[in-house]
Amino acid sequence: MTNNKPIGIFDSGIGGTSIWKAIHELLPNEKTIYLADSKNAPYGQKTKEEIVALSKKNVDFLLAKNCKLIVVACNTATTNAISELRAEYDIPFIGIEPAIKPAANNSKTQVIGILATKGTLNSELFNKTAEMFHDTKIIEQVGYGLVQLIEDGNLNSPEMTQLLESYLKPMIDANIDYLVLGCSHYPYLIPQIKKILPEHIHIIDSGEAVARQTQAILREKVGFCDSEKMNPVFYTNTNPMVLNTILDQKYPIVQADF
Ligand code: DGL
Repeated sequence: MTNNKPIGIFDSGIGGTSIWKAIHELLPNEKTIYLADSKNAPYGQKTKEEIVALSKKNVDFLLAKNCKLIVVACNTATTNAISELRAEYDIPFIGIEPAIKPAANNSKTQVIGILATKGTLNSELFNKTAEMFHDTKIIEQVGYGLVQLIEDGNLNSPEMTQLLESYLKPMIDANIDYLVLGCSHYPYLIPQIKKILPEHIHIIDSGEAVARQTQAILREKVGFCDSEKMNPVFYTNTNPMVLNTILDQKYPIVQADF
């Protein structure tokens, strides 16, 4: 089945590019449109109603660009708004949720850590999933301040190290052997996180799983692009500098009001 329309991807900011990278790697012929709603980041501290409204605004923008499928590349928006989006729009949505399942299933210590936003950890969807793994102790930690530092381009700042140490040390003390990154911004912190965690602790995020799910939905329901190479386009509603750096200055970025 052929479908040459683009895949739409959105996040509260630049973090979802970690998901975009996984999708682009697995499906290089697909045209992608990425929306970074950095003006409204972080979503993690907002109410469910606010997150639903912002998510709908992003979807309307992507639908106006004729997208065939939308990837919600944000755990906070997925866990708070994906049911509302699916109820309102007649287009397939793929969401991203913290990878509790592979962590809990593979943990030897039966203790796993999860770092995510307040909005994700408080959501009904996350708590329902977590309940399914009641044999595993899940240490939940809100990553206060991390998204803002990433959005501002301060990935390697002393403040970042200090925050990460304060969030991860109690998990190390509690004997976790898996750390789940439950926010699409956090894969950009893996080098710093690795400096803090002992080597035996595995770090997992959901990027590849989302890319594989996108591929499956294209195959089963939507259709693939049949062109040789489709250039990705990125939209942001703030200064594109940090987004540009995170993309290694390789792609066109459009600054727009949305
Ligand atoms: N990147 C987002 C997530 O996956 C949201 C971060 C935020 O805006 O608070 O949760």
